[in-house]
Amino acid sequence: MFKIDHLGIAVKSVATAKKFYEKLGLPVSEEEFVAAEKVKLVMASAGDSRLELLEPTSEDSTIAKFLAKRGEGLHHVALKVPDLAAVVERLKKDGIRLVSDEIKIGAGGHRYVFVHPSSSGGVLFELVES
Ligand code: CO
Repeated sequence: MFKIDHLGIAVKSVATAKKFYEKLGLPVSEEEFVAAEKVKLVMASAGDSRLELLEPTSEDSTIAKFLAKRGEGLHHVALKVPDLAAVVERLKKDGIRLVSDEIKIGAGGHRYVFVHPSSSGGVLFELVES
């Protein structure tokens, strides 16, 4: 079943940004590093939904580039899909541009790909496997 898994939010500092979510009363996870994306992150849970706060750990991280260009804010929408490999194959066949051709492993060991915003109306979509 398709559903929104989380919203990714680019921040300069996870330690600072997470305070707002804690003040709101949302449970915030422990910090996690994702070497492939050069970020550290926490997840704030809002019921079934999650907000992913992403801080770059390197200047050449895509999140660092995003912050330099646009500042802090909403970065991507993550959709949970039932069969990621099948969806990726279908999109590629339909000429949809993906950020990387390979399915990657992210936070919590989940499998994901990003759809390039040029193919999706300006929104960076992360597709994650359910
Ligand atoms: Co994400």
